[in-house]
Amino acid sequence: MSQTTNKPDRMFLSAPHMSGREIEYVKQAFESNYIAPVGPQLNQFEEKFREITGYKYCVAVSNGTSGLHLALRSVGVGAGDIVLASTFTFIGSVASANYLGAELVFIDSENETGNMDPEVLKEEVERLVAAGTPPAAVLPTDIYGQACDLDRIVEVCEPYGIPVVCDSAESLGATYKGRCVGHAARIASFSFNGNKIITTSGGGMVASNDEALIKKCRHWATQAREPVLHYEHLEVGYNYRMSNILAAIGLGQLEVLQDRVDAKRSIHAQYEEQLKDVPGISFLKEAEFGCCNRWLTVIRVGEESGSTPGNVIAALEEHNIESRPAWKPMHTQTCFADNRVVGGAIADEIYRTGMCLPSGTIMTPEDITRVCDIIKATISVA
Ligand SMILES: Cc1ncc(COP(=O)(O)O)c(C=O)c1O
Repeated sequence: MSQTTNKPDRMFLSAPHMSGREIEYVKQAFESNYIAPVGPQLNQFEEKFREITGYKYCVAVSNGTSGLHLALRSVGVGAGDIVLASTFTFIGSVASANYLGAELVFIDSENETGNMDPEVLKEEVERLVAAGTPPAAVLPTDIYGQACDLDRIVEVCEPYGIPVVCDSAESLGATYKGRCVGHAARIASFSFNGNKIITTSGGGMVASNDEALIKKCRHWATQAREPVLHYEHLEVGYNYRMSNILAAIGLGQLEVLQDRVDAKRSIHAQYEEQLKDVPGISFLKEAEFGCCNRWLTVIRVGEESGSTPGNVIAALEEHNIESRPAWKPMHTQTCFADNRVVGGAIADEIYRTGMCLPSGTIMTPEDITRVCDIIKATISVA
């Protein structure tokens, strides 16, 4: 789809949206010649991120996938360990467990939001503990900007000392019980990929209230180089640090984070208003325990519509509008054909009926109406 059809005037799923101030921060980085993976803009970016999110510690990294790699390693996940992860997610969420040689077991979703179902998780944790093979970590995703029920997930894990690593890649700006997402987990990871609510073109942040964990992540992200002049390594790390130039973009983006959340929520509200009476169309819900950032508006195209997500995506594509199927569950991916899933039917159904509508904050009310009119026309002729 988007790979083949970047025609002029295309409406993208979630295009980057600069505030205008980014270039000033990038200019400052150039003027001081900090064209490097560390520098003042990077320090300021981390400081500002902590201020906005309330996390005590954080480290900026090259992307959300590397952030999760560091986060999982920091809580002790290693080869042969079991990691329980959301099946309804993007592969960048779970790939890191694979890099560490851990065995992924996938957990089904709640129907309303698509997030990990804590009751299904409980069942599997208790089964594994009873079998003498407790999981080394639990890795839920805050899907499409909606916080998972983290307190409940932590409550399931705590009695057995199982650390929770929250994948909040899609959910910066969202809250869970009044705080930034991920706080109740041992450690969380965020993404600043080009399509996220704010972007550094590529980038990520690992955040925690546990200083020791972030210290480890920071060390591994810089090739695990010991703080001595000569190149001394006691262990092997990675080259995962965010560049100072990209952090400068992030400084401009953090200034407009709340504006972007408000805009995404407004886009969602307009879609809901205009599509509420269309037969068979429903929306992934916002849970009562927090504010969803509505990174992408996800609709479900049910039986009653007489249509399918595939038909609607094709109709929008004909008008040069990008939309996407909902995430294809991990337990249905060929690369995870040998991995176990607990449940899976709910995630399968969300995939079968779900699709993401264009949700970029540069969209106008007219753009939203245009998308809705195409959806209505598609469904009435289906
Ligand atoms: C749920 C989820 N997890 C992880 C990632 C990985 O982030 P990145 O692309 O920055 O590596 C993404 C998005 O890209 C994501 O949507």
